[in-house]
Amino acid sequence: MSLKGKKIILGVSGSIAAYKAALIVRGLVKAGAEVRVLMTKAAADFISPLTLATLSKHEVTTSVHDGESWNNHVELGLWADAMLVAPATATTLGKMANGICDSAIVAVYLSARCPVFFAPAMDLDMWAHPATRRNVELLQSYGNHLIDVGTGELASGLSGAGRLAEPEDIIKILADFLAQPLGKGTPLPVKASNTGTGMSTKADLTGTGVSSPAKQDLKGKTLLITAGPTYEDLDPVRYLGNRSTGRMGIALAEAAAARGASVNLVLGPTELTTTAEGVTLHNVRSAREMHAISVIKWPKADAAILAAAVADYRPSRTEAGKIKKKEGPMTVKLVRNPDIAAELGQDKRPHQRLVGFALETENGLENARGKLKRKNLDFIVLNSPNDKGAAFGHTTNKIQLVTGNKVTAFELKSKDDVADDILDALVKVL
Ligand code: CTP
Repeated sequence: MSLKGKKIILGVSGSIAAYKAALIVRGLVKAGAEVRVLMTKAAADFISPLTLATLSKHEVTTSVHDGESWNNHVELGLWADAMLVAPATATTLGKMANGICDSAIVAVYLSARCPVFFAPAMDLDMWAHPATRRNVELLQSYGNHLIDVGTGELASGLSGAGRLAEPEDIIKILADFLAQPLGKGTPLPVKASNTGTGMSTKADLTGTGVSSPAKQDLKGKTLLITAGPTYEDLDPVRYLGNRSTGRMGIALAEAAAARGASVNLVLGPTELTTTAEGVTLHNVRSAREMHAISVIKWPKADAAILAAAVADYRPSRTEAGKIKKKEGPMTVKLVRNPDIAAELGQDKRPHQRLVGFALETENGLENARGKLKRKNLDFIVLNSPNDKGAAFGHTTNKIQLVTGNKVTAFELKSKDDVADDILDALVKVL
């Protein structure tokens, strides 16, 4: 993991998790980055600016002016390859989202032209509050990247969603993002209607019934599941996407959790969600965001099931403002996205199992076998939109499970039952 030569602004706001900023600075510097730290006054109550100045080897800025001199936020905003706000409190998120410029963090944020990442940390009720949700969605709609909260024990003593993501995960997400071509200076605007906040009140699949909840044959196993579409933004209001709803992947996550597994579900933008116990939800929007979380979760997983319909391409640039029409035709240049399945397949350890999906309209078996081999999968789930009631947009699916030399065909069933068929096959090879 390298951030060699990358210039990173770290904004630290006043949360109990602010102490983790020291680990973030140390990790960034260790990865080769040049770091400048901004702190809110409240953050300085939790961790001393001297600590962060020592670790970053640069003075820490706590206000736009310090009585004697004016800190040039515009310059800093232009200097950086990326800005990271971690921990981002509810207050700082709110100020960033609404342009309330009363701290060095918000001043630099408003001037920054680089990609901006924010890693919230707060109590679970604050995180779930509609005001926070709205602010997160607003920030995403400006093209900023949410580094989703973790779940667990919180400073309040309560347990739930709201923990700051692990410093090493945060650093990896930045490093992966900046390692991609076009990582620098290409914020990916997200529509305000994006559901990628991990706390939405959308239609919930929980309780639709999993066919065999009593079976505990995945107890002690950790699963990574990708689901849903990815959206690749053209400008703040337009994107390239697909019709996946994520229903199959959510059904898989819920069924696996019901069978005892601990599941990381990386879910693209969709109206559906889950609150099932045992499922940690990571809402993402683009293929690159899905890739970043997946590669972090893969090393500790026993198996991954990749049900997401990942966009193979994204626009070579995302315009900061709405694209205006001109005379004549228009061409959009697309560049390749990372292939998550192929990458996980490449890094697969002997005990790990990898399951892919193939949605094919023609030459199904041949294409599925090709993907199985190319991506180093253990088996692949083949389905086709040509089959009535199967694939995208249905609550049912009709699949064939394909290994190197064997094909097992199943009837049209509810996606919950299909999930159990897939998990039965997985349990056999785990
Ligand atoms: N996949 C992925 N990352 C991508 C593309 C696909 O993880 N960038 C995964 C899907 O989740 C699925 C499998 O790879 O499990 C096959 O996806 P598919 O889109 O059918 O494969 P492609 O390699 O994109 O094949 P093609 O576009 O040639 O059909």
